Amino acid sequence: MRRTAHLTSDEAGLAEAAAILNRGGLVAFPTETVYGLGADATNAQAVAGIYAAKERPSFNPLISHLDSFEAAKVQGIFDDTARTLAEALWPGPLTLVVPTASTCTVSDLARAGLDSVGLRVPAHPLAHALLKATGRPVAAPSANRSGRVSPTDADHVLSDLDGRIDAVLDGGASDVGVESTIVACLGGPPRLLRPGGVPREAIEALIGMRLESGAAGEKNPLAPGMLASHYAPRAQVRLNASEIGPNEAALLYGATPPRGVEHAKAMLNLSESGDLREAAAHLFSYLRQLDASGAETIAVGPVPDTGLGEAINDRLRRAAAER
Ligand code: TXA
Ligand code: MG
Repeated sequence: MRRTAHLTSDEAGLAEAAAILNRGGLVAFPTETVYGLGADATNAQAVAGIYAAKERPSFNPLISHLDSFEAAKVQGIFDDTARTLAEALWPGPLTLVVPTASTCTVSDLARAGLDSVGLRVPAHPLAHALLKATGRPVAAPSANRSGRVSPTDADHVLSDLDGRIDAVLDGGASDVGVESTIVACLGGPPRLLRPGGVPREAIEALIGMRLESGAAGEKNPLAPGMLASHYAPRAQVRLNASEIGPNEAALLYGATPPRGVEHAKAMLNLSESGDLREAAAHLFSYLRQLDASGAETIAVGPVPDTGLGEAINDRLRRAAAER
C-alpha cells in the first residue's frame, strides 16, 4: 500500500506529477478520452508497475504518449499515411501503431516485445503540459483495474487504484469518454485496430481509402486479441525446467539454480532476489538475448504464479506454444 497523492492542476501539481514519473513512479493523468495510468515508457521497471497496479494478467502493448509529432518521430517510422493522419489529427484521440525507429527509447515491456510502437499525442492541455515537463514518452493504459470500466474523472481513478499508485493529477472530467481510435500503419494497407474517439469515416476521408478492419484474422497478426503471435523466439521454449541440458540456454528466476546450469549455452536470471517486478522488466529483452545465443532450446525455470508472475507466465506459455 502506498499513499496516493491527489494533485491539483496548478504548476506545483504538474511539477510534482512530472517528478514522480521521472523517478519511475505511477501517475494517473487526464487525457481528453479517459484517464491514463502513466509511467516513464523508457523505464521497464516503471512500466512493470503499471501491470502490477492494474492486476493485468497478461502484457498487452501499451500506448506511449508524447507532447508533439516531432517527439513521436524519434520513436516510430511514419509512412505517408501515418504522416497524413498525425498532421491532421494530432493532438487528438488517435493512436498510431508504427514500426519502431532505430532511435526508439520505449522499453520492450511497453511494446510487449513487438517491433512496433503505439504512439499518441493527446489534446488535453494538462496531459500536454505533463508530457512536456517529463520530456519523455509516457506509457499509459486506461487508469482502471483490469476488467473494470475506463475512468473519466479522478474519483473513478481513486475508487479503483487508491493506495496502488503514487498520484492522480486531477483535471476534471474527460470529454470524449471513449478511448482513442487505433490505426496500424505497418506497410501495406492501414488497419483499424480499435474504433474510438475519431470516427472511421474521418480517417478514411483524410487518406482517401478504406481502412481494413483490424478484427482478428489470419492475415492480421497484430490486431489486439491475436497477441498469441507476439514476438516468438526462434528457439523452442521449455517451461518449468528443473534441469538444464547441454544445448540449452537458461532463463532463471530466484536464487536457487536448477541442476546442470553450468552446461548452459547462455544464462540469464530474471531476478535473483525473486522480485517479480524486476523479472517483468527483464522478460522480453532476456528472451531476445537468449534467442540470439543460438541455443536450440531456452529452458525456463519456474516463476511463481502470483501477482505479476501471472502475466509473466502467460507470456512464457505463449512463447512456448506449438507453432
Ligand atoms: O484513449 C486511449 O487510448 C487511452 C488513453 C489513456 O490514452 N489509452 C488506452 O491504452 O486505451 P490501452 O493500453 O488500454 O490500449 C492499448 C492498446 C492495446 O490493447 C493494443 O490494442 C494497442 O493499444 N497497441 C498499442 N501498441 C501496439 C502495437 N505495437 N501493436 C499493436 N497494438 C498496439
Ligand atoms: Mg483499458
